[in-house]
Amino acid sequence: MVAELSTQLVAQQQHAVKLLTSAKRICILTGAGISAESGIPTFRDKQTGLWENYRAEDLASPIAFDRDPKMVWSWYQWRRQLVQDKAPNPAHLALAQWQQSIKQSHQHITIITQNVDDLHEQAGAQVTHLHGHLWRNRCHQCDKPYKIEGINKENQYANDELITCPHCAGYIRPDIVWFGEALPVEAWQIAEQAAASCEVFMSIGTSSLVYPAAGLAKLAKQNGAKLIEINPNPTPNTVVDITLAAKAGEVLPILLKDFIKHS
Ligand code: OAD
Repeated sequence: MVAELSTQLVAQQQHAVKLLTSAKRICILTGAGISAESGIPTFRDKQTGLWENYRAEDLASPIAFDRDPKMVWSWYQWRRQLVQDKAPNPAHLALAQWQQSIKQSHQHITIITQNVDDLHEQAGAQVTHLHGHLWRNRCHQCDKPYKIEGINKENQYANDELITCPHCAGYIRPDIVWFGEALPVEAWQIAEQAAASCEVFMSIGTSSLVYPAAGLAKLAKQNGAKLIEINPNPTPNTVVDITLAAKAGEVLPILLKDFIKHS
């Protein structure tokens, strides 16, 4: 069952559908807000955001890990426990269905996410991760990937003992891009290319505060794209053409339904 949009949103929504049906290349950037309706806390929402309750500089930087690896590892193990039973919501499902539905058409959708959860993939979408993966590990010292074997998923995340790398004895860390670290080169190239060549850029559930990801919207705009933003709250993104001020899980299924009807 698809929810109804408020009357003031309907005009913007119809305008968005018009742009989307005529675009050949669409680039979508998602952030923590798209997973909020799955029960995963965002970073900066008042009261519930992770960075409202924890200091990012103590937990999400290489300096923090060098200073206190146990605290950082424990925090990520806690986050893994928090996320492990979460499922895709109607927003993830609509994006995946939309990407699938245009496979045989002249259109192409590139989905770029800042999220480290895998809910887009669980929904069946193909996505590029700019900030890494919550479920993967690597060595903080030699960078080799590390797979925790032989323990069931639940126990794996309940255990917050530090693990050392079998190659160099460095500490194992989550394969997540922390503040002060470079984005994965290939993922960033895909993102830049998709943003620079799209006709419509959609920003969904992101505060647009963290660069370089937040710069993709401006890159798209400079190259002539129209910008659509889905976010119930205002953002500092000043280049937006259409704002859909609603929850992603409410607006995306409606957008998809209308898109299919008009294409
Ligand atoms: P933020 O927490 O900064 O922003 C989440 C945005 O989602 C806010 O603007 C909310 O208004 C919006 N939002 C909340 N619920 C929503 C819903 N149901 N539908 C749509 N939007 C909703 O999260 P990000 O912008 O993703 O980095 O943060 C960017 C990066 O900062 C993250 O990737 C993370 C963090 O530090 C790393 O983990 C490396």
